[in-house]
Amino acid sequence: MKSATNPSESTSCELAREMAQKSRVGVVLLLGSPGAGKGTQAKELSRLWNIPQISTGDLLRIHVANDTALGRTVKTIIDHGELVPDSLITEMVEARLLEPDTARGYILDGFPRTTDQATWLIGRLAVERNPLPIRAVRIHLDRTQLLRRVSGRRHCPVCQRSFNIYEIYEHRPKYNGFCDRDGAALIQRPDDAEEVLCRRLKVYEAQTTPVIDFFQARGQFAEVMGDGPIEWITESILDAVNGLSLAGQEIPREY
Ligand code: AP5
Repeated sequence: MKSATNPSESTSCELAREMAQKSRVGVVLLLGSPGAGKGTQAKELSRLWNIPQISTGDLLRIHVANDTALGRTVKTIIDHGELVPDSLITEMVEARLLEPDTARGYILDGFPRTTDQATWLIGRLAVERNPLPIRAVRIHLDRTQLLRRVSGRRHCPVCQRSFNIYEIYEHRPKYNGFCDRDGAALIQRPDDAEEVLCRRLKVYEAQTTPVIDFFQARGQFAEVMGDGPIEWITESILDAVNGLSLAGQEIPREY
């Protein structure tokens, strides 16, 4: 298992931005408990690498907001902190992966969450003509910090950005209660209520930690610590992903 914390003042982010515009980046999976910072980091990496962030949680919430058939099916499941059935999730992910912006790679935020989803993804990549390399990074954060972060999180139902109302955290909204980007009123996600969050943490332990073993066994897994400034964690992830480069699939060091 790899571990990277508090990286020194490297220029990884700048170099990654410069070099990422044309190269294949591959598939980067961000794993970690609810509130560990997957979404926050996925957005940073998406900007740096110029590849899409694909968040299954965001996609599901958009379905719920748009009152689609899928949204109506999954709303209660999400609100109770349970996992949406694998078949529905893989169908939704498949539709998203068919879009042309995924050709150089993509960041999967919150997927796979079960070993069946992981097996599906590996199978899907294996049948591609020129398969993208895949790397999984877990962001680790202790339970006390998770609970504090999630209790202060506020969510924009329009652009899916998340903010935090506590002064000690980054990403405070400029205008209290409103999204910086589109001015929408921020909400607390129903599944961020404390009892639902506890359920999500249990589900994560039971169903998602085996996904870590799955990628560790394949030599495609690294871990970074999730505390500290956002840009430090981004640098740690860049280093971790770079450390997982596979023979014949080298990408610039800064990835
Ligand atoms: P999803 O939306 O994926 O939720 P999650 O995995 O539980 O993750 P979160 O969104 O809660 O947290 P995060 O790790 O992204 O943290 P964030 O960056 O926001 O899934 C929701 C539900 O959908 C699931 O429970 C399930 O029902 C369903 N679902 C989704 N995918 C599924 C799948 N594959 N299979 C089945 N069901 C699925 O950060 C948290 C807070 O901390 C924010 O306020 C942020 O601003 C702040 N913060 C982040 N980083 C820092 C930092 N370094 N310093 C200070 N504050 C920080």
